[in-house]
Amino acid sequence: MKIYKIAAIPGDGIGPEVVAAGVEVMHALATRNGSFTFAFDHFDWGGEYYKKHGRMMPVNGRDLIRNHDAILFGSAGHPEIPDHITLWGLRLNICQPFDQYANVRPTRILPGITSPLRNVTDRELDWVIVRENSEGEYAGVGGRVHQGSPLEAATDVAVFTRAGVERVMRFAFRLAGSRPRKLLTVVTKSNAQRHAMVMWDEIAAEVASEFPAVAWDKMLVDAMTMRMVIRPQTLDTIVATNLHADILSDLAAALAGSLGIAPTGNINPERTFPSMFEPIHGSAFDIMGKGIANPIGTFWSAVMLLEHLGEKLAADRLMDAIKRVTADPRFHTPDLGGKARTVDVTSAVIDAIHGANR
Ligand code: IPM
Ligand code: MG
Repeated sequence: MKIYKIAAIPGDGIGPEVVAAGVEVMHALATRNGSFTFAFDHFDWGGEYYKKHGRMMPVNGRDLIRNHDAILFGSAGHPEIPDHITLWGLRLNICQPFDQYANVRPTRILPGITSPLRNVTDRELDWVIVRENSEGEYAGVGGRVHQGSPLEAATDVAVFTRAGVERVMRFAFRLAGSRPRKLLTVVTKSNAQRHAMVMWDEIAAEVASEFPAVAWDKMLVDAMTMRMVIRPQTLDTIVATNLHADILSDLAAALAGSLGIAPTGNINPERTFPSMFEPIHGSAFDIMGKGIANPIGTFWSAVMLLEHLGEKLAADRLMDAIKRVTADPRFHTPDLGGKARTVDVTSAVIDAIHGANR
């Protein structure tokens, strides 16, 4: 029997609640499947760890998870610690050194979920956003001088490399080519950002020539927000810089009905390092410990994790179970306007897994 080693990093806020639910569902899926099991190692890294040790994860933290098959992540963020410390200390401290340069964010309207857009169907809004995840505006380059003086100055320099842009473009074109519509929209801002974004556009055109079967177009990021709202059916796969895609993916999640259901994979396509899967929603301190966090974002992230491991049957089975559960409003958590609790949704998904035919 195959054993997949998974590193679970619940992190802060509602992270531990949704990751616990995810672990439970993944065990149920393995039992139902019968050909593999999961061995989870849990790591208590995050804000509480920081308060004890002065850092978000141990110095040798990455060595402890380097050989796992995948990472299931909850969220990073703590009300008493500045956001840039929690982000750079944990999530980016894993994503960037593990070269998880393709951040993949599927967006669909699941059964039973209402989009705030009028008259949009689940067939019309079916997108995957590919977010460049290793450089760009998140390169961490910049500085601050003369703090507190009237001469204070600060820079955040976006760094784009040819290698970095080429590889994410190639990933996005390949992904677009694997989807039925074979359509890629390249998001840019080369009218205002006249250096890196112009290179971004040029590289997109070069890489496009390697993928003649994929139709592609180019969209300025501001106009893209309008197109997502007004003509959602004209989009399929989308590639954008780290920051542009960060912003667009929140919009996408809201248009699909809730941030609570949106999943992410931080993918290292070469598989030199493990990839990391997490819900998009973040730590949500306002509902922490109340037992009402929506675990669907984590379950859908587990679907992506299974696809990454090549367990297609199990991935499809979990996605079917998720859809059957979202279709029933009794299992909607408060973010979806319902009254269900995390445990209700979790046991409904487990029941659906065991009831499933495939
Ligand atoms: C995301 C999040 C993070 C980001 C936050 C938590 C820093 O918004 O994954 O989209 O900006 O990358
Ligand atoms: Mg974001």
